[in-house]
Amino acid sequence: MKEIILAKTAGFCFGVDRAVNMVDDLVGKGKKVATLGPIIHNQQVIDSLQRKGVRIIQTPQKAQPGETVVIRSHGISQKIYNELALTGSTIVDATCPYVAKIHRIVTEKSHEGGIILIAGDPSHPEVQGIVGHCPNGAFVFQNEQQLEQLVVDQGDFGGKDKFLVSQTTFNQQIFEKCLKTAKKVYTNLTIFDTICKATVLRQQEAMQLSKQVDLMVVIGGRQSSNTAKLGEICSQNCRTIVIETEAELSYEILKNANKIGVTAGASTPACIIKEVQTAMSEILNNIDAEDVSFEEALE
Ligand code: F3S
Repeated sequence: MKEIILAKTAGFCFGVDRAVNMVDDLVGKGKKVATLGPIIHNQQVIDSLQRKGVRIIQTPQKAQPGETVVIRSHGISQKIYNELALTGSTIVDATCPYVAKIHRIVTEKSHEGGIILIAGDPSHPEVQGIVGHCPNGAFVFQNEQQLEQLVVDQGDFGGKDKFLVSQTTFNQQIFEKCLKTAKKVYTNLTIFDTICKATVLRQQEAMQLSKQVDLMVVIGGRQSSNTAKLGEICSQNCRTIVIETEAELSYEILKNANKIGVTAGASTPACIIKEVQTAMSEILNNIDAEDVSFEEALE
């Protein structure tokens, strides 16, 4: 009998849940709503919100009169806050409180003349938002090699105070390697481990689960970096597929796996996880039934 094990930490994190609920509440109150960028990296949720009339705008200037503009959980830079204020729109800030805390740290330390170092993906909106709260700029690195290159290029920044923060969804293992390097080479370094606990727990559970199963199914949007990271972690231990919906599952994918683990990124809604589980059970039941009839034929 084949077995499916669902990770306890799979799916929406607190910050995403909060942001999606804020949009839902506004829609429920009959407001005209626009989100500054997609509210989460999940196409199915976005399609559903668009059907309820929620628009996605890419810049504050695209806001229409009378519209309420929602800032998503990733947060935005100070410059975009200022531009939003100029539009006269009603602003609802769904920046995750954990991201807002990073904004406060880097704003304060950068104002005081400190050097801000960010472990993160420079193309990720959260990191761009954090950089945009550093009046004196920031240095971003994605891994140990890039940090080492930064040391080659900038040295110890003349011994100035340095403050290191991380993108909330940064990979814990890579972060720890970077910290070892940073502690070795920098003086006057203060570290703020701002990786979100939800992310750490989800990554740790995915790591452990992937060691116990033959196949990991990771559910999440193609644009979701935390989903991609879960896929990377699991693929170190077993065959891993990353899917957006149950439509990507097939008999071929599941047939050789006896134990299958399932996890999902922070922006994957519970209904999609449920649909995947149901589709998997149906496929696996068919495989079990075929195995039984094959054994009966041999008797
Ligand atoms: Fe916030 Fe953590 Fe989610 S930082 S948006 S609760 S992954």
